[in-house]
This record gives sequence, structure tokens and C-alpha cells, in this order.
Amino acid sequence: MANCECQRYCGHIWAAAENCRMKRTVRKISRSGYQKLAKPLLFRQHPDKAHENMIKTARLLHQMRGENILRVWNYKNPRLEQELLGLKFKNPLGMSAGLDKNFDLPPIAKRIGLGFEIGGSTTAQVCAGNPRPWFRRLPSEKSIVVNVGLANNGITRNIERIQKYPRRLWHDFPLSVSVAKTNNLENASDREAIADYCDSLRQLERAGYAPLYEINISCPNTYGGEPFTTPARLEKLLNAIDDLHLTRPIFIKMPTDKKWLDFAKLLEVADRHKVAGLTIGNLIKDRLALQNPKVLGDNIEGNLSGKPAQKITTDLIYKTYGKYRSRFIIIGVGGVFTAEDAYEKIRAGASLVAMVTALMFEGPQVVGEINEGLVKLLDRDGFQNITEAVGSAHRR
Ligand SMILES: Cc1cc2nc3c(=O)[nH]c(=O)nc-3n(C[C@H](O)[C@H](O)[C@H](O)COP(=O)(O)O)c2cc1C
Repeated sequence: MANCECQRYCGHIWAAAENCRMKRTVRKISRSGYQKLAKPLLFRQHPDKAHENMIKTARLLHQMRGENILRVWNYKNPRLEQELLGLKFKNPLGMSAGLDKNFDLPPIAKRIGLGFEIGGSTTAQVCAGNPRPWFRRLPSEKSIVVNVGLANNGITRNIERIQKYPRRLWHDFPLSVSVAKTNNLENASDREAIADYCDSLRQLERAGYAPLYEINISCPNTYGGEPFTTPARLEKLLNAIDDLHLTRPIFIKMPTDKKWLDFAKLLEVADRHKVAGLTIGNLIKDRLALQNPKVLGDNIEGNLSGKPAQKITTDLIYKTYGKYRSRFIIIGVGGVFTAEDAYEKIRAGASLVAMVTALMFEGPQVVGEINEGLVKLLDRDGFQNITEAVGSAHRR
């Protein structure tokens, strides 16, 4: 290598190292700032209001083209990259469905360093959701009680929103659109509900923007309950979806309240259909998953995110991967707050991991912290890259 070329090369490495060190320091300062200042202020607001304000701020930042500043938190490393289903993921950590119901956050999610986003859940018709409040925080349990009932602007407006973003936004930042049935009395029957899912999926196909779809069969807070979490009904829904001949891979958002034998029956159904992946899983219904179930009165409706979801979902991922190996791509969701939490799900069999609650409890710098921590865990265990770690708990 010529001398000046060598100097330039070393310069790049040095700049990258400096960049890494500087960002780590910024993340540390941000963590302490978030815990000591921002979070106490944020947590003084009702969580419904705090969520609304977060979305408004995100929109404003995007209008002002200000989101680039958030790059200061992100962490990049080629060892975290994967190609799955023909899509490039720059790291395995994504945003799970529910935080960004109307697709306001993709530019921010990408800049803070997430590898992908699951937006929605969205429904064929505009959906007002359940009466408020939608959220309650349980700080001592690191959990949020969620009772939104699928409020969103409806698929037509949401597609318009997605189309407004420049296509380059989606470069190595895949968007999955979570589709649910409109939560109203008219869609409580299976026939109408299936037509509702299919309507959304047809519109998404026509628009051609989203490279992945997630079918939310397990939203617990809806009219008629969770209709598609029995094998016979899931079969009906997936038959109808197969008939659409979708060009994009579909994931199923799995329930978390089934005993393994019942869960396995749903997997058998999914296996017979054009299902590429499983998101494991949705909110937790069982309040005994709380360390102190008394923190939540029986009169309070809703289901649990965060820590109570952690072990239940990791166990389901482990068993699913144990039975199906690479047949399904698994997105592990539930109580991921640290690199160790994410890594446990990856070792259990998840290729990707997604979160909601940690972003609120830990702050946005948590994304870079987790990704950096994952690389340290790969080093510890002698893995070259994240792909080697997927399912490694089964190869002990
Ligand atoms: C505020 C909030 C809203 C949610 N809304 C949805 C939703 O619309 N669709 C869905 O499939 N899951 C929804 N979820 C569930 C999350 O996607 C995720 O499965 C669950 O919260 C566990 O992940 P976490 O512990 O990282 O929060 C929601 C969760 C939260 C906290």
C-alpha cells in the first residue's frame, strides 16, 4: 500500500474508533440525563399525554429535518448485519408494533440506530380504539398496562403517510406493517374480520412500499376477543390470506397466553401456510406475571408489556426454534431492556429482536447501548457475527 494511502486507511480506522468512543460517552451522558431529568419530567405526565407529545415532537423534528442529530446515539458494526428474506438489516434490534400506530416515527427510529420498524397495528377502517386511558405505567414492574384497542388512522391514510417518506429511508431499514382487524362491532364476526384483514393487505400490495407484513392475530383488547388464536380460525384466516398471493413475506404476531401444546397447534397451522416468520409475542394477559399483582386493581383493563413478558416470550421462542429451526424467522419481543435480554432471545432462536417498553423506561440511547453490548457478547462467546449466535442455546 502506498504511504499516503496507508495513512488515509489508518486515518479512517482512527476516526471510526474516535467516533465510537465519542458516541459511547454521549450515550452514557444521555442515559444519566434521561434517568435523572427527562424521565422524571416525562413520567409526571399521564402516559397517554406523554405518548401524544412524543409523536408531536417526532413530527416537528421531521418537518424541520432535524432528526439527523439523533445519529449521535447510534452504534454500527458489520458483525450485527444480516440478510433475511432478501432484506438487509443493519442490526437485529427493531421497534415493535404499537408505539408508532400511524407511521410517524420511521425517520427517528432509523436515526437512533434501530435496524427495522414494525409500524401499526393498522386496520382497514379508521379505528377510534377503546375509551381512554389507554396506558398505565407500572414503574416498579418495568411494565405498561395497554388498553388501546387498535386505535389508528386506518390503512388508506397510513399508506399515504408511508408513501410521503423518501424511498432511501427504507434502505437497510425494513418496514413491517402490522395489520389487525378493525376493532368495532361490525367486525366481531370471523367473516367480516377476515375481509377486513384482506382489505388492508390488498391495499398494501397495491401501494408496494412495505417489504414485510405482520398479521396481528393476538390483540387482546378487541370486540369479540382474539378471534384467530384457535387453530381452526387461524386456518380460515391464513387460507384467505394465501388466496391473496401476496408478494411480501408475512409474520404472525403470536399470543403469549397459551400453554405450549396449544401454542404448538397454532404453529402447525402456520407451518402449512405461506408464513415466513413469527413475532413472539404479544402483550401478557396473566397478571400473576407481575412480581406484585396487587399493583394493579382488578377494575383496571389492559394487558402487560415489559418485564412480565420477558421470560414467557423467551421460553416460547426457545421451544418454537427447537421444533422448527430455520422454518420460521423469529422476531423475539417482550421485556428486552438490555443487551443481555436481547442476546438471550437470539440464543433461544430469534433472528431479530424488537421492543417498545424499554424505549420509554430507558430512553432512546438504549438502542445503541444494546447493539454495542451485543457485539461484546459475541466476542465473549467467540461468534464472528450475529447469525452464528441465533439459536446457539440449542447447540450447547
Ligand atoms: C404502548 C403499547 C402499544 C402496543 N400496541 C400494539 C399494537 O398495536 N399491535 C401489536 O401487535 N402489539 C402492540 N403492543 C405490544 C408490543 O408490540 C409488544 O409485543 C409488547 O409490548 C412486548 O414488548 P415490550 O416488552 O418491549 O414492550 C403494544 C405495546 C405497547 C407497550
